[in-house]
Amino acid sequence: MIVAIKLGGSIITQKSKFKTPNLQAIDALCALISEYYKKGVRFIVVHGAGSYAHIPSKEYGLADGIRGDDGQVHFAYVHSLCEELSTLIINSLVGKGVPAISFHPATFVIQKNKLPFKIDDKMLLRYLKEGFVPVTHGDVVLDNSIRTSIISGDALMDYFGKRIAGKLIFVSDVDGLLTSLDGKGELIREVTRDNFKGVYSVVSGSKHVDVTGGMAGKIKNLMSLKCPSYIVSGKHPNRIRSILDGRNDIYTKFIP
Ligand code: IPE
Repeated sequence: MIVAIKLGGSIITQKSKFKTPNLQAIDALCALISEYYKKGVRFIVVHGAGSYAHIPSKEYGLADGIRGDDGQVHFAYVHSLCEELSTLIINSLVGKGVPAISFHPATFVIQKNKLPFKIDDKMLLRYLKEGFVPVTHGDVVLDNSIRTSIISGDALMDYFGKRIAGKLIFVSDVDGLLTSLDGKGELIREVTRDNFKGVYSVVSGSKHVDVTGGMAGKIKNLMSLKCPSYIVSGKHPNRIRSILDGRNDIYTKFIP
């Protein structure tokens, strides 16, 4: 089974401090991917941009495209920051024996009105078939309507969920989906067609600078997928082991 795992920007970076990686979290999560890769799980790794790209993207208004004489430079700068963070992940994975290959959306995705329009995933899927682990991420991309826009790692997860993944795991800095946004709510263990409406109404934006929609944007499409999805805390890698081993633990499971 193919597992698409998203390492959220909130766990692999300190989201309010520009360009600050959480090296310990990156190391622990890559060690877990390595452990299960060696057991035969086939992963597609997606990661967020966290404080590498959200802060400058907001400063330059990149969610709505490029403008002014420096627009292309702003775009290239933010892309280079995403690549820099991605290189940390790749190096950590390769160092742990995982054949991770980077795929930067700026070079294979085109959007239309901020939504994926053409994802040229042939090479990525070919590498996956050959036993490699494709690594991709939230990025700035070309956009047929507004010249450029931002694709979030969640949109990429959604894409893989619709096509080839059997399981989507969203690793974040929260225990899962909670009944209130102040971090004190109770964990919602399962979201099904029966309770989805009620659950969605308690979820709104994230407390951090997030140009791609925060938690509400993240969960919106999960219930329309064919495969189950999970939101789990990256602070407790054992909980991710529980998901991969099929055990109950502290996380939220979405059953479409
Ligand atoms: C954002 O990607 C990409 C840019 C801002 C260029 P994500 O939306 O997937 O990142 P996180 O997980 O929220 O940090």
